[in-house]
Amino acid sequence: MHVHLYERIWMWAASALIVMFLGVIVLTAVTQAVQPPSHVETVDPTNLSAVPEFAEPAVRTLADGRIVVSVLAGMFAFAPDPIEVPANVPITFRLTSQDVVHGFQVVGTNANAMAIPGYVSQFTVTFAKPGEYTIACNEYCGLMHHAMVGKLVVK
Ligand code: CUA
Repeated sequence: MHVHLYERIWMWAASALIVMFLGVIVLTAVTQAVQPPSHVETVDPTNLSAVPEFAEPAVRTLADGRIVVSVLAGMFAFAPDPIEVPANVPITFRLTSQDVVHGFQVVGTNANAMAIPGYVSQFTVTFAKPGEYTIACNEYCGLMHHAMVGKLVVK
């Protein structure tokens, strides 16, 4: 079968691109540990009651003074709710889910992460402005997804 020269060039170029893209995925996965958004901490989603911070999700002050909020997302609520934290202090959020993937977005701030069953998503954020913030689930998680909201109170 005769394939025109230009056609062959394009076929080889397209194939080379595909190989390159796949190579980049493998390379970043291996060398830069590109993973689900998290610091790659896992937790057994079927046995969260055995993990104290998620068995009783709450705002905690650690011995070194850091404030850590463990949040358990589930259909269709966040725990704890409301979350009360002080202003102008770094707050570390640790999220996981007990069922499906949920979102955790503090509306009007850059606090935004996914709560993924089996993973602990962690981020640290400082809220400069006291007030009440809405926490929205921004991943479609089921029939009542639109009603999955929580409250963050910054004092
Ligand atoms: Cu939880 Cu949408």
